Amino acid sequence: MFYSGKRNRFMLLLVLLILLQHLLWSSGASDKNKAMVQQLQRYGIIKSTKVAEVMDSIDRGLFVPSGASPYYDSPMPIGYNATISAPHMHASCLELLEKLLQPGMRALDVGSGTGYLTACFALMVGPEGRVVGVEHIPELVASSIENIKKSAAAPQLSDGSLNIHIADGREGWPELAPYDAIHVGAAAPQIPQALIEQLKPGGRMVIPVGTLSQELKVVDKKQDGSVSIRDETSVRYVPLTSKDAQLQGN
Ligand SMILES: C[S@@+](CC[C@H](N)C(=O)[O-])C[C@H]1O[C@@H](n2cnc3c(N)ncnc32)[C@H](O)[C@@H]1O
Ligand SMILES: *[C@@H]1O[C@H](CO)[C@@H](O)[C@H](O)[C@H]1NC(C)=O
Repeated sequence: MFYSGKRNRFMLLLVLLILLQHLLWSSGASDKNKAMVQQLQRYGIIKSTKVAEVMDSIDRGLFVPSGASPYYDSPMPIGYNATISAPHMHASCLELLEKLLQPGMRALDVGSGTGYLTACFALMVGPEGRVVGVEHIPELVASSIENIKKSAAAPQLSDGSLNIHIADGREGWPELAPYDAIHVGAAAPQIPQALIEQLKPGGRMVIPVGTLSQELKVVDKKQDGSVSIRDETSVRYVPLTSKDAQLQGN
């Protein structure tokens, strides 16, 4: 009796451990993040294996305020009348910019918000590259830095290849210009001249433009400095505006 009781307890413990492990495993954040990436691949939004790898490595759950659904394909409010863009928009922008986010290249993320895409950019260009995020809400800059510290891009915050600044992104970030890649995460009434100037010849900018109706524009600067602009798709972003206008909600 003594022997079998001990054995039963052992078996029970074993079963509990297996159940616990199963529970942790199947609800694991990285598993859900992986499923999100796989779905974007199935839909043909992610084509590049590098983009898939980077989105696998940066857990979106670290960047979305608790209570929201980080892996659901929709924008989510992050306070201050701002949102984190939907996973398919992040994926599309990474795809459009992939060739300009090669190791060692320079990228600017205007309206960096939660820091999610900025962190993805950092993994794309690696520690030999440079990534600058510019965001005008100081509280969002502070929380984005905390988010990135928990992510796979943390080493690049420490080694200085990734920086986030509190500034008006319509001015870009001239100190580190020119950039191979510029991403703008808020809709501008028109393309800010400063951003075109800060684009490297051969570089590309992806920027939503418009007010009521918006188009995601792809701006390519040729080697001779001339610029070609095409519409990629219709989108809906919060406006690229002044901090006061944003907080008042106009
Ligand atoms: C749609 S959110 C996207 C943020 C980020 N891409 C993400 O997914 O987390 C746009 C961001 O642009 C910021 N923004 C708007 N106008 C800005 C400006 N003039 N300068 C800097 N940031 C600005 C907003 O505060 C907001 O965080
Ligand atoms: C957001 O905009 C609304 C107007 O639509 C405004 O009343 C509100 O105070 C703003 N919220 C924040 C957090 O700034």
